Amino acid sequence: MAQFQLPKNSRYTEGKTWPKPADAANVQAFRIYRWNPDDGQNPRIDTYYVDRDDCGPMVLDALLWIKNNVDSTLVFRRSCREGICGSCAMNIMGGNTLACTLGIDDCGSDTIKIYPLPHMPVLKDLVPDLTSFFAQHAAIEPWLQTQTAEPETEWRQTPEERSKLDGLYECILCACCTTSCPSYWWNGDRFLGPAALLQAYRWLIDSRDESTGERLDNLHDPFRLYRCHTIMNCANTCPKGLNPAKAIAEIKKMMIARAV
Ligand code: SF4
Ligand code: SF4
Ligand code: FES
Repeated sequence: MAQFQLPKNSRYTEGKTWPKPADAANVQAFRIYRWNPDDGQNPRIDTYYVDRDDCGPMVLDALLWIKNNVDSTLVFRRSCREGICGSCAMNIMGGNTLACTLGIDDCGSDTIKIYPLPHMPVLKDLVPDLTSFFAQHAAIEPWLQTQTAEPETEWRQTPEERSKLDGLYECILCACCTTSCPSYWWNGDRFLGPAALLQAYRWLIDSRDESTGERLDNLHDPFRLYRCHTIMNCANTCPKGLNPAKAIAEIKKMMIARAV
């Protein structure tokens, strides 16, 4: 049964407003989602002020500045700080993106609002539980599968064959697309979602892979693939500029081609 309202204990409340940095001439306000699974309280929105003259230019810099200078209990994921690891994905000003590649100036607001990626269980503050997301990635078996004997050196590809992977191999599995997909919000337990399906297509069109039929069989299901209704949120939000919706459409075309 669909729930149209958040349960009472999930509705966020007004949180703490932290003091403005003393003597700062250039201050940016942040409103940030906080939730601690151990204190029995509802989520809250805390307000912070960052001294822009003492902070780097990206939203991730501001989060680190807050953690180092204001509130060490603020929890978020990050690693590479250059758009490669995918771990700093969060919802900033209503869109899913990477905190490390989004400039504070590009948020275009006096107050920057930050929430965890939507429609995932939250572990703490800005950290979503991505267990099912990675299980869905594993379900498409994201590795080279071959039947012919291993070559002595390497599996060869022509430049043209290799170029078919462009726009696919760059995916960093940040989950921005999957958590922005309305079909996934409703059927996240059965629809694989745009990230896993983009990865599925990446292996389906790899000229070296010899499990195309089995891979298509694995996707031939009313929910796993066909819950995509081309809403395009995934392509609009991908911080790497990829187009999972197009990859999903290509898989559907492969399904039709093998059926005729
Ligand atoms: S397709 Fe884009 S948004 Fe989706 S997981 Fe990959 S990099 Fe992230
Ligand atoms: S195009 Fe498909 S996968 Fe992408 S957001 Fe829409 S329904 Fe989801
Ligand atoms: S910290 Fe690695 S992508 Fe942002």
